[in-house]
Amino acid sequence: MAPINIIYISIEGNTRAFIKRLSAFAEQQHAFDSDKPLINAKEITDQTIPEEEKAPFFVFVPTYLTGGNGIDSGFTEIMTNALGEYIADGNSARKCIGVVGSGNRNFNEQYCLTARKYAKQFNAPFIADYELRGTARDAEHIYATLCQRWASVNA
Ligand SMILES: Cc1cc2nc3c(=O)[nH]c(=O)nc-3n(C[C@H](O)[C@H](O)[C@H](O)COP(=O)(O)O)c2cc1C
Repeated sequence: MAPINIIYISIEGNTRAFIKRLSAFAEQQHAFDSDKPLINAKEITDQTIPEEEKAPFFVFVPTYLTGGNGIDSGFTEIMTNALGEYIADGNSARKCIGVVGSGNRNFNEQYCLTARKYAKQFNAPFIADYELRGTARDAEHIYATLCQRWASVNA
């Protein structure tokens, strides 16, 4: 199966570290069984030049918000806007097949809120979440979730 495409942003390195862990897990699985897909990840930064995505992809987005409490007052996305703008450009959003959020549960109702917002905005399911750099179990679970959805989209 074709490698799983992931587009992500990472401000402080947690998401980057998780994608690395996920990619290593995928490589291990692929070595045992070549039907298990590898990961093809692309990091978006403020310097990324807009480019239309032609193939299906998943989005991994950490949460950075200011203001509001996530329940009854507004909040504003900060730091990760380059990713949302990249996906919104051209027809790329149509290729988005799932959003994975990360954050810190200390933020309570605002936990992973950016991913939930992206899921609505880009009309794609919110498929998983993990905290900070994630764990080995998170990588295993999220890899399985991605594989299932990837297979159904590529069927
Ligand atoms: C200024 C700031 C605001 C944050 N706001 C939220 C938030 O509203 N909800 C949440 O779940 N996590 C929040 N976090 C936690 C980050 O999403 C978490 O640390 C994440 O792993 C960062 O990913 P990165 O290192 O790839 O940038 C915030 C962190 C910072 C530094």
